Amino acid sequence: MVSNFRNEISNMIDVSSVTKVFKVGKVNITVLDKLDFRCQENEFTIFTGPSGSGKSTILSIIGGLTRVDEGSVNIFNNKLEKMSEEMLALFRSTYVGFVFQTGHLINSLTVFENVMLPVELSQRDDTNFDERAWDLLKEFRLEDRADSLPVMISGGEYQRTAFVRALVLDPDILLIDEPTSNQDSQTTETIINKLRKLKSQRTIIVVTHDREIFPLANNIYYPVNGKLSPFKVE
Ligand SMILES: Nc1ncnc2c1ncn2[C@@H]1O[C@H](COP(=O)(O)OP(=O)(O)O)[C@@H](O)[C@H]1O
Ligand SMILES: [Mg+2]
Repeated sequence: MVSNFRNEISNMIDVSSVTKVFKVGKVNITVLDKLDFRCQENEFTIFTGPSGSGKSTILSIIGGLTRVDEGSVNIFNNKLEKMSEEMLALFRSTYVGFVFQTGHLINSLTVFENVMLPVELSQRDDTNFDERAWDLLKEFRLEDRADSLPVMISGGEYQRTAFVRALVLDPDILLIDEPTSNQDSQTTETIINKLRKLKSQRTIIVVTHDREIFPLANNIYYPVNGKLSPFKVE
């Protein structure tokens, strides 16, 4: 059933004329205004630009966490706006790994339990996910923190845990929001090394201001007036 999401003819992300308006009190804020975005499978895209310009909103829409007001989001030729909440949840857990700007770990679960949560929710048993989780924890230098609660670990460890959780199911699409902002240099290096390894293997979109990540990208865009413009690296 899950494999039905995937259409061999058109493996790409295609966001077409998407509008998103947030109501704040009586004021309507048009964050995205007939925005278009496309990328091919296994391309690496960066969204950069000022705070409040809609970068996180775009990621959230592509990942099926936020619904559009107008327009269409096609992922692997499936229209997200046509999916029920249940279908979207299945779509997300099958294809999308998120690393949120603020990590969003669950405070009552240990590092290992947080990392394994996507596995529990997906109910998949086609891989030895325990082993995969341990391999990733080692790669991200977290093996000694597996039994710690999120409040007991450093900011860098917290962000690395969020990364491992996004990778545990080995999703086709990775949506990563400002992974290296406010991180120590070792965490930044670990994350950039992993992004380098994943480049061309997975479809990756990173929101970032970090110039060290820019060379990895096939395309860089910044939002202007609710649309995406190509960004030229100087
Ligand atoms: N759930 C929401 N409700 C109301 N306003 C929101 C919501 N999410 C985002 N916004 C507003 O939309 C704009 C874009 O936000 P965001 O996508 O987070 O920007 P960025 O990631 O580029 O900093 C901001 O003005 C923000 O306040
Ligand atoms: Mg943001």
